Amino acid sequence: MAHEHDVIVVGAGGSGLTSALYAANQGVNVAVVSKLYPTRSHTGAAQGGIGAALGNVEEDHWEWHMFDTIKGGDYLTDQDAAELFCKEVIDAVIELEHMGLPFDRLPSGKIAQRRFGGHTKEFGKAAVHRAAHAADRTGHMILQTLYQQCVKEGITFYNEYHVTDLILEGGVAQGLVAYELASGELHTFKAKAIVVASGGYGRAWKTTSNAYTLTGDMQAILYRKGIPLEDMEFYQFHPTGLFPLGILLTEGARGEGGILRNGSGERFMERYAPTIKDLAPRDMVARAMYMEVREGKGVGPRKDYVLLDLTHLPPETIHNKLPDIAEFAQIYLGVDPTKQPVPVMPTAHYAMGGIPTTVNGEVVTDGNNTVVKGLYAAGEVACVSLHGANRLGTNSLGDLVVFGRRAGVAAAKFAKDAEFYDFTSEVLGPSRERIEKILNAQGGPSVADMRAELQQTMQDRASVFRVESLLQEQTEVLKELFDKYEKVVVQDRGTKYNTELVEAIELGYLLEVSEATVHSCLNRRESRGAHAREDYPERNDKEWLKHTLVYKCPNRAVKFAYKEVVLGKFEPKARTY
Ligand code: FUM
Repeated sequence: MAHEHDVIVVGAGGSGLTSALYAANQGVNVAVVSKLYPTRSHTGAAQGGIGAALGNVEEDHWEWHMFDTIKGGDYLTDQDAAELFCKEVIDAVIELEHMGLPFDRLPSGKIAQRRFGGHTKEFGKAAVHRAAHAADRTGHMILQTLYQQCVKEGITFYNEYHVTDLILEGGVAQGLVAYELASGELHTFKAKAIVVASGGYGRAWKTTSNAYTLTGDMQAILYRKGIPLEDMEFYQFHPTGLFPLGILLTEGARGEGGILRNGSGERFMERYAPTIKDLAPRDMVARAMYMEVREGKGVGPRKDYVLLDLTHLPPETIHNKLPDIAEFAQIYLGVDPTKQPVPVMPTAHYAMGGIPTTVNGEVVTDGNNTVVKGLYAAGEVACVSLHGANRLGTNSLGDLVVFGRRAGVAAAKFAKDAEFYDFTSEVLGPSRERIEKILNAQGGPSVADMRAELQQTMQDRASVFRVESLLQEQTEVLKELFDKYEKVVVQDRGTKYNTELVEAIELGYLLEVSEATVHSCLNRRESRGAHAREDYPERNDKEWLKHTLVYKCPNRAVKFAYKEVVLGKFEPKARTY
């Protein structure tokens, strides 16, 4: 079947829904193509809050938020993006409130705010209450609120449609091909403008907070088309994944007063970040946890985890402000956090890197910001670059609404003056061939075995700490996996709800984004933010204060180009907390 809409948004998480809403408000015809039913999108898993300098609990200013975002990003953050973000996110939160988002309240009736990692007052003096929250279900509430607004606007949704191709001719995005899960049919979608908002790729690692669906689909599709990916070496591990499963336990728990302890009960973050301790940025806390474990100071029979201690908090704080994570600890580990500390270790969480864009979401192809006409990206799939080398907690939810809004408005404005391009059902060819090849393969490896090998090897060789020899080995592992993937088999050869086929296609995407990540990790010979090279432990601004652009080349090779960091108010400085 063939479809036509002025603006098509890929993905129905926070950035996709915001883009769709704002595009529709410009008076164009908008559709959302999503691999999930919208309210199952991964934004729903974001727990602790959305950071904005509302100043409801104590004095706060957008300039302080901007400084924290840039310092948190280890000075790789583009300062123009950070400035407009920290100003615009204030209005965005108020707007969400007016749409009906049930934020927690202060006795005064104002939106409640809590402390969060790396968010400070007076340029680093102490932690500040900046994260507006709805218990520990903030992302869930944002998703529900935005979806209601989209339904009200009459936006068309194509749910459980998996995009398999982007039609890109002569530097212009013209449409998409998507596989409908219910019928097994391929569809074409013509669009004057496309907004990519399909989320991250945490499923490349074994231990992750990410849902099964986070497989880097659109990053991989664009990368295969010759569009570079930016700063892929910066992948964030959230410190508090429930050990050993990796399920997220919000940083908001430490914002409410939770403390990390090692095997001797010591509050070890006092040694690593004397000023803000457990509320240091995630890259620092994750490294500190690994260092404690490496030095034999972990907990448990293998001393391979640390503890998140909430037992000193009043039980009503835990039940009212952190109900979901209390339930997760109880259900998955049988631990009641009001009485016992909870085992935690870092978990793959968030891609700072992704599809390079301008601050208006336009996708760019090089260091000169050459724009792909009609193509936009926002949210975790994109790299604007607000988060630099390490994102601060709560800035992802803000990113979705601020840059989702900008991308949606820009896409709609572009679409108003654009024409549909003519293409025929021939564009279905490459997707059909790929699907038939998988459905007809015999005697090759299974999707599940291959995915497990990818995830284990990425975990072992490209996680919190990196070193040349292991990264090099991982490039060889990936080449072998790409070869094996040519023969991957599925047992389900049917046409209706063939989720195994979809998983096989997703595995191909995971291989692409892993390739881009590992090569980018090898290429950057310094340590900055979430990229900790044991063989190059120092930050090197002289050679590496620049963004990486990685391009896919034939024969499993890659090439690199660079993009300047937009500097401004805040000069790069040593990063202590
Ligand atoms: O810890 C959390 O609640 C996660 C939030 C985020 O990634 O921003």
